[in-house]
Amino acid sequence: PVAARVIAIDGPAAAGKGTLARRLAHELGFRHLDTGMIYRAAARLLLAAGGDPDDGAAAERAARAMRIEDLGRADLRQETVGQAASRIAALEPVRAALLDFQRAFGRMQPGAVLDGRDIGTVVFPDAQAKLFVTASPEARARRRQEELRARGLASIFADVLEEMRQRDRRDRERAVAPLRPASDALLLDTTDMSADEVFAAALAYVNARL
Ligand code: CDP
Ligand code: CDP
Repeated sequence: PVAARVIAIDGPAAAGKGTLARRLAHELGFRHLDTGMIYRAAARLLLAAGGDPDDGAAAERAARAMRIEDLGRADLRQETVGQAASRIAALEPVRAALLDFQRAFGRMQPGAVLDGRDIGTVVFPDAQAKLFVTASPEARARRRQEELRARGLASIFADVLEEMRQRDRRDRERAVAPLRPASDALLLDTTDMSADEVFAAALAYVNARL
């Protein structure tokens, strides 16, 4: 059989990775995995068990206990879960425990779109198409705030921006699988682009690569 095709989308929080990944997957008839959700699901299990996100052994146990059925839970979206996710995501055994799941997903026919932080650099370095989506921290904080508002949650811009910066710093500065563009990724700065414009640019690139 022909090897499945993989589209890797990486970038910082609220850059629009998930929105783009979903639309590309829908357009191409591919499967989609938001890999942030598997880190969030592991973090939620850890917090629910009263574990400390810096306790490597407990975090690894939580990562191994994570199940695909957990990924749809609404409470995974909470910022406390996001912060704990970015802490356990800095631990090598946690990342190793979640690697097989992501690679198996990427082998699904006829192809898969995965979005995260290290898809093009670590999980699928040989992906057929790689995109690195960014936007200014302010634009991303506004997008996050808008999403919170849509869910009926009030938030303070300065707090959302500060949480965004903290998580960016932790994701960029960690020793294992730091957030950075793959050398062969298409860079898209979406600060002044609509989601439709991003989708059109990404689709043209992906079609040329597949
Ligand atoms: O997955 P990630 O955290 O990178 O972002 P997301 O969950 O896709 O959320 C991005 C939000 O920004 C969504 O509410 C989009 O409608 C909006 N947005 C976008 O995705 N792309 C733009 N160019 C502008 C806005
Ligand atoms: O939705 P948002 O962009 O805010 O975050 P997310 O994609 O749900 O990811 C939550 C955390 O998981 C991130 O801050 C990363 O630390 C971590 N993560 C990662 O390390 N590698 C991935 N492939 C995906 C997420």
